[in-house]
Amino acid sequence: MNHQLGNILIRNARTSDVEDIVELLNKIIEKGDDTVWDMPCTVEFERQWMENLRPGSLYNVAQRMDDSKIVGIHMLSPMLRYYRATAHNANMWLLIDLDERGKGIGGFLAKTTFEEAKNKGYERVHMQLREDNLNSLSFAFKLGFRIIGTAENQAKCYSKYLNLVILEKSLL
Ligand SMILES: CC(C)(COP(=O)(O)OP(=O)(O)OC[C@H]1O[C@@H](n2cnc3c(N)ncnc32)[C@H](O)[C@@H]1OP(=O)(O)O)[C@@H](O)C(=O)NCCC(=O)NCCS
Repeated sequence: MNHQLGNILIRNARTSDVEDIVELLNKIIEKGDDTVWDMPCTVEFERQWMENLRPGSLYNVAQRMDDSKIVGIHMLSPMLRYYRATAHNANMWLLIDLDERGKGIGGFLAKTTFEEAKNKGYERVHMQLREDNLNSLSFAFKLGFRIIGTAENQAKCYSKYLNLVILEKSLL
């Protein structure tokens, strides 16, 4: 699966991407207000995690073609590991490098992964966002997500409770 938009290539993630992915993640974790991740990721953790993805998972990256740098990641995995009844639903997260936002990469990466997910039989995607992450909520609405609930005080980052908004989008 390869899709190209200008200087950006969307393709499946490889374990050789792990160092770029960890760098991208840690910049966002250090910024602190996008996600609920509040401790740095290590190369060992990410490599192990990539090697043990749930069956049926999709993990795509956006790669800058001129220097091969990974500037976006999109993970989509079956909602529950062992239940056939919910196997048409996926959970997801999507992250774009801090320096590459607002250039259309997130939208392109999402649309490409959703197309692949639909072809694999997924019908609906769910995700959770921090209630105070208004930029990402705008992005999610643009992609066609709708809010189906709020989990109050679901996360506790740096001793502060945060509400998480639960969103879903049909792929049909
Ligand atoms: C949310 C995120 C993925 C957007 O990625 P991006 O590459 O900057 O998004 P795009 O440039 O493709 O924007 C697509 C649309 O989303 C909306 N959008 C993106 N960033 C926005 C912002 N900061 N404020 C308001 N709207 C925004 C815009 O409406 C844009 O549409 P437009 O082309 O008509 O302007 C990125 O900011 C990110 O990684 N955030 C932190 C991680 C996160 O919260 N992930 C969950 C996302 S669902």
